[in-house]
Amino acid sequence: MRILSGIQPTGDIHIGNYLGALRQWISLQDKNECIFFVADLHSLTVPYDPKTLQKSIIEKIISYVAAGLDPEKSAIFVQSQIKEHTELCWLLNTVCPVGELERMTQYKEKAKKFKNNINAGLLDYPVLMAADILLYKADAVPVGKDQTQHVELARTLARKFNQKFGKTFIEPADVLPKMGAKIMSLIDPKKKMSKTDAPQSYISLFEEPESIQKKIMSATTDSGKNIKYDLVKKAGITNLLTIYSLLENKPIKEIEKKFKNKGYSEFKKSLIKVVIDFLKPFRKKQKELATREVYIKEILSRGKNKAQSIAQTTIQEVKEKMGLI
Ligand code: ADP
Ligand code: TRP
Repeated sequence: MRILSGIQPTGDIHIGNYLGALRQWISLQDKNECIFFVADLHSLTVPYDPKTLQKSIIEKIISYVAAGLDPEKSAIFVQSQIKEHTELCWLLNTVCPVGELERMTQYKEKAKKFKNNINAGLLDYPVLMAADILLYKADAVPVGKDQTQHVELARTLARKFNQKFGKTFIEPADVLPKMGAKIMSLIDPKKKMSKTDAPQSYISLFEEPESIQKKIMSATTDSGKNIKYDLVKKAGITNLLTIYSLLENKPIKEIEKKFKNKGYSEFKKSLIKVVIDFLKPFRKKQKELATREVYIKEILSRGKNKAQSIAQTTIQEVKEKMGLI
């Protein structure tokens, strides 16, 4: 199968991104043809600083490799370096009903959050994402839960295009982890953990131990004192239990049992240790990669070459089908 996914270069990659998306990428790369990129064009749709964007993009590439992506197995590149993404986006725009875009949950949320910057790119964001996926004729797209609506649009556009111009695209499937597809914010367990929210709400993949400790100790919990999985009544503890279970690779039931008759504080202290231990090798690898500029450039150049040859072939086919050539 051909697998494709991306993450925007805004903010630090956090354990939500890891458990929802990156971890799946890493396990899929052994048996599939994998293509992963940094979605820099998507990140232009919300306010950002052009002076720090390049640094942020390179940091994401380093994060991918530090977390376990293997450049020998996966093609890794930067979206804006392959111009066919924007070209296909325009072509797909002409088959995409505006109504489909206006009903997108992420668009509605971002339009509310960035009231003074509701630019056309924010509305068109899912069409660019569909272009990213369809350009490579990907079979499957590993993402967290918040992105499934966008992958669904990619399927819709593939279908519409195929009906109008003849079979061209594959309808891509989304791939979600059984658990961890939506890790919640540490300060508001009703909201998803997000890179663009306050730093206390997330734990970065490369967070220092002292900071991990502070963030977990002050994470919002619920009334009562039992360590029990209950999405409705105990959203905070349930989120922490989920993180514990995924990082320790132990079933929730076992962790509940371990902390039976013990308080939140003891549970949190144990979770702090689990998180610090889990992230330790990531920090080490990140520090090492940060000094290897030439190696990172090489990875990107190889990834770009591979991506470009697929992208050019698809665009040629699409333009022919649409009567442009
Ligand atoms: P963010 O919303 O934190 O800025 P992105 O939108 O760049 O993150 O998402 C990158 C990937 O991580 C996507 O596949 C997305 O679905 C996944 N993801 C983002 N937040 C979470 C979360 N809280 N839990 C699980 N997966 C997530
Ligand atoms: N929109 C995705 C996010 O915010 C990032 C992304 C851009 C993506 N293009 C993609 C993910 C294509 C999967 C496939 O997380």
